[in-house]
Amino acid sequence: MIDFLDDEILNDMVLEAKKYTKYGVVADYIPALGEANPETLSIAIYRGNKNYVAAGNIREKFTLQSISKVIILAVALMDHGEEYVFSRVGMEPTGDPFNSIAKLETNIPSKPLNPMINAGALAVTNMIIGESTAEKLGRILSLIHEMTGNTEITYCERVAKSELETAFLNRSLCYFMKQHGVVRGEVEELLDLYTKQCAIEVDCYDLAKLGYVIANEGKNPVTDRQIIPLHITRILKTFMVTCGMYNSSGEFAIKVGIPSKSGVSGSIMCSVPHGVGIGIYGPSLDDRGNSVAGMKLLEGLSSRYNLSIF
Ligand code: DON
Repeated sequence: MIDFLDDEILNDMVLEAKKYTKYGVVADYIPALGEANPETLSIAIYRGNKNYVAAGNIREKFTLQSISKVIILAVALMDHGEEYVFSRVGMEPTGDPFNSIAKLETNIPSKPLNPMINAGALAVTNMIIGESTAEKLGRILSLIHEMTGNTEITYCERVAKSELETAFLNRSLCYFMKQHGVVRGEVEELLDLYTKQCAIEVDCYDLAKLGYVIANEGKNPVTDRQIIPLHITRILKTFMVTCGMYNSSGEFAIKVGIPSKSGVSGSIMCSVPHGVGIGIYGPSLDDRGNSVAGMKLLEGLSSRYNLSIF
């Protein structure tokens, strides 16, 4: 039972998993991310009602990167409903790297295969309702504020700018999708919003709470208010299982078995049904863009506390 897990046991597990940080590298295709310390590993596990365990420097901030894809999918589904959203983005895993362009050309009619790869997330960001980028970003942040109870969360301008200046591949994905009518409007505006949403800055405690709300069927841990409809949290968790760890999702499902989403900052958010959220930060990444030590730590936790959903 994960209820028996305490800070001391968790700390020992982190020390053990930390040894694996040397097998990865920090992402630097977004230059600002290259400044992270590869030896870092921290984790917070939120069990509801302000009850949490943690190890490492859980107040250190990092950017959500691809984890934001789960949040914007929730916003788009709440804005438009399933029929519309899935007319512009698919539901199938790709088995390709997160930034791959290949399937866009081979998959007629060029609809991105799922909302967790970059192409799919760009299409979903393109659906967010709002008069301006600021308003759209404000709506994404409001949901995050409500889920975490932390209204100070905002985006890191430096990381957003660093990505915007170097996002040549994402620009290509957008223009390709624009040609096929999947992306609409100004590509630069879309990239501006996308890079800002990816640069939303949290700590492990915030991340654990985000994961918790999805695990807790969309309800606020303190007020019990339904923030995200139950059926949408089911969709989010399913994508986290099938596509959340990119082309490692199958192996991760076997070894860990927890609905999870990773980001190239080295973050992982997990939603353990029915009501445990996990936030991890370990910037040393494997060749598929997932935190090496973070995945090892999850493997240990899952087997010790029987957390696999399978
Ligand atoms: O679009 C990008 O490439 C990044 N902002 C996010 C990619 C990402 O986090 C992939 N995760 N493992």
